[in-house]
Amino acid sequence: MIVSNRLPVDHVSGKGTDAVWRTSPGGLVAALEPVMRERDGVWIGWPGMPDVEFEPFEADGIDLIPVPLSADEVENYYEGFSNDTLWPLYHDVISPPSYHREWWEAYQRVNRRFADAALAVAAPNAIVWVHDYQLQLVPKMLRDARPDLIIGFFNHIPFPPYGIYSQLPWRRQIIDGLLGADVVGFQRVADAGNFARAVRRLHGYETRGNLINVRLEETQAEMTLRHQAKARRGQPVRTVLARPFPISIDAQQFQRLAADPKIRARAKEIREELGNPRVLMLGVDRLDYTKGIRHRMKAFGELLEDGVFTSEEVALVQVASPSRERVDAYAQLRDEVEIMVSRINGDFSQLGHPGIHYLHQGYPREEMVALYLAADVMLVTALRDGMNLVAKEYVASRTDQDGVLILSEFAGAADELRQALLVNPHDIDGLKAAIVHAIRMPQRERMRRMRALRKRVLSHDVQRWSATFLDALVREDHNDPANRLD
Ligand code: G6P
Repeated sequence: MIVSNRLPVDHVSGKGTDAVWRTSPGGLVAALEPVMRERDGVWIGWPGMPDVEFEPFEADGIDLIPVPLSADEVENYYEGFSNDTLWPLYHDVISPPSYHREWWEAYQRVNRRFADAALAVAAPNAIVWVHDYQLQLVPKMLRDARPDLIIGFFNHIPFPPYGIYSQLPWRRQIIDGLLGADVVGFQRVADAGNFARAVRRLHGYETRGNLINVRLEETQAEMTLRHQAKARRGQPVRTVLARPFPISIDAQQFQRLAADPKIRARAKEIREELGNPRVLMLGVDRLDYTKGIRHRMKAFGELLEDGVFTSEEVALVQVASPSRERVDAYAQLRDEVEIMVSRINGDFSQLGHPGIHYLHQGYPREEMVALYLAADVMLVTALRDGMNLVAKEYVASRTDQDGVLILSEFAGAADELRQALLVNPHDIDGLKAAIVHAIRMPQRERMRRMRALRKRVLSHDVQRWSATFLDALVREDHNDPANRLD
């Protein structure tokens, strides 16, 4: 059973059999959807609109159980606590987090509703896999009610260093919530380390490598017979495994799409529509302040200004899909990005050759793959990102072994994709140098790097990720050497 804030589909309009749905935005759904299509099980989540109630239904072979949210809850739990408190706090306070007690109230109430929805359908000993920062209290709620359940939690976004995390007025409650799980998964080694440090600082629990010993007296009520037996043998009563499980994509699906003649033809057509620039650069992001969109535009604008290339020679396509538009920081970012696009285009466009092709729209996967195939250089310049699946999608789509990935060292993907051109997006000169390096890179070097990147992404796909997580979850003995990192 998967429990996440969003279902894989968002409700657009209509009711009953007339209801119209579209694929939900973001990396979480992109990663989990192929996993759930291959397995039995249900997915519990919000259908993406306030005040709509739906009976459980099936979409693309996945059983869905919708959890309704009122308009007030969308404002306080989703836009407020999830996306204006936790999101900026967990992303290095790039934007200042807001702390409001009424948002915290709503967060607790809605977490309880998700937990209750799972409890209502969980068979004895069911595996419940809870996802992401919106639902961090759910693991403990499940464990308190049903110690028989096997509970996993995966955090798709970074977990911040203690100096930042400790700002949160409810920092203990969140850690308690997460420690209800048997396995708490993170994207990077650093995230798991930050979590273990927070646990030590706030609770004083002992940690050994990836294991956290949650003390007996505080967990008495939740003890199962299995745990009691362990206690008699003098072992820690309850161990929680907290370790990285870097998420990935359905790499085969991207390879298949990239081989589709229609999509390949579309890739050619895209280049023609753009006036056959010598170099096509691409950015694909939700319009989010964590993604470093302004930084990459600044570097690009300066290169035009310096005369390193013209807008006829090099085109930048920036897809910025609309996201969390009612949260102030997002509305403000949109204004800033759009002013920047207008300025750069005003100053440097040539007739028929705008500097930046800015698209504030979402696109189907087929069009994305065509764009990936068309792009000579992919720009991923996040200031902080849990993983960044766009980087992996680009690599998996490049069946021709060509193309250059510029990748921020602050994205989780940088731990694995070492043959990308790694950049610090705050260093605009460094970013400019990487863009020039990418544009001038000889084909041999491009292909050597891309082959190595592809090897990694194709062998570490999302199917492997979920199998590794679920293996760790069902393996009772977390001390088992098989739980060690590969
Ligand atoms: C990130 C988060 C997901 C979230 C997605 C889209 O990938 O990790 O939990 O669903 O962004 O954001 P949204 O607020 O639209 O769900």
